[in-house]
Amino acid sequence: MDRVTTLDRPARERPIAVFDSGVGGLTVLHELLVSLPNEDFLYFGDTARFPYGEKTQSELRTFAVEIADHLVAAGAKLLVVACGSASAAALPALEQHLADTDVDVVGVIVPAAQLAVEATANGRVGVLATPATIASGAFAEAIAASDRHVRVTSVPCPDLAPLIQSGIPLDEDAVDIVRRYTAELRAAEVDTAILGCTHYPLFAPILQRMLGRSVRLVTSGQGIIRTVERALGARDLLSAREGEGDYHFHCTGDVASFRTLGTRFLQMPLGTVEHVTLTPTPGRIAA
Ligand code: DGL
Repeated sequence: MDRVTTLDRPARERPIAVFDSGVGGLTVLHELLVSLPNEDFLYFGDTARFPYGEKTQSELRTFAVEIADHLVAAGAKLLVVACGSASAAALPALEQHLADTDVDVVGVIVPAAQLAVEATANGRVGVLATPATIASGAFAEAIAASDRHVRVTSVPCPDLAPLIQSGIPLDEDAVDIVRRYTAELRAAEVDTAILGCTHYPLFAPILQRMLGRSVRLVTSGQGIIRTVERALGARDLLSAREGEGDYHFHCTGDVASFRTLGTRFLQMPLGTVEHVTLTPTPGRIAA
């Protein structure tokens, strides 16, 4: 993407930036491309530092601020933190960091939590997410803020995102891992389960089978659409274009593997993928 032309465009025609630890956020981008076809998107995958699920909250805040600076400099009109782990750890820090810019930031935790609260009839919601996201307590907090009567059962799933990302065909070992992670949600008799990590929608069929057909699955992508629309609408930043927008990709790791994996996650053709190196700025963000 041409940085000069991007910044020269009217604000509403600048791209929405979406970032994730890797290719998983393409499941969120997929939902955005379907729901907001007129918008341009710039997707950033921090593939060199994947997985985020095992990182500390402080590391995640530092990474998120570095990425935000890169995306604001690239002309983003809105920042979407698609990554559950980064949203859980870094959203307030990002809001603070971007307060002096004209760029707003949204994360996936609160929208998915609200959707789950709306969906549950028996008041029992399950959350499957990375260890970092579960350790942050962000989903439990957001659900309680929406309705304190809802009972939350949270399960950290350390092996799930790396397993999905590996692309290994589903075998009995993988099914056993899913069975183990879903057992607690079955025992808790949840009627709604948040797939709180960007990778998990790729395993939606097996998760649905394990949890039972009556359990409503809520993904980060489903939750974020209305939040993005509202954030742009409130600032008069929805694109006025009639035709389809463009989408581009930046990644910090190997471009060829991003392309191979990315096609599976996006379920749409990948456009240009550019390798970028971020400049770390130590000590910029408080732990
Ligand atoms: N994007 C991450 C998340 O949603 C995927 C998993 C990871 O990086 O560990 O939490």
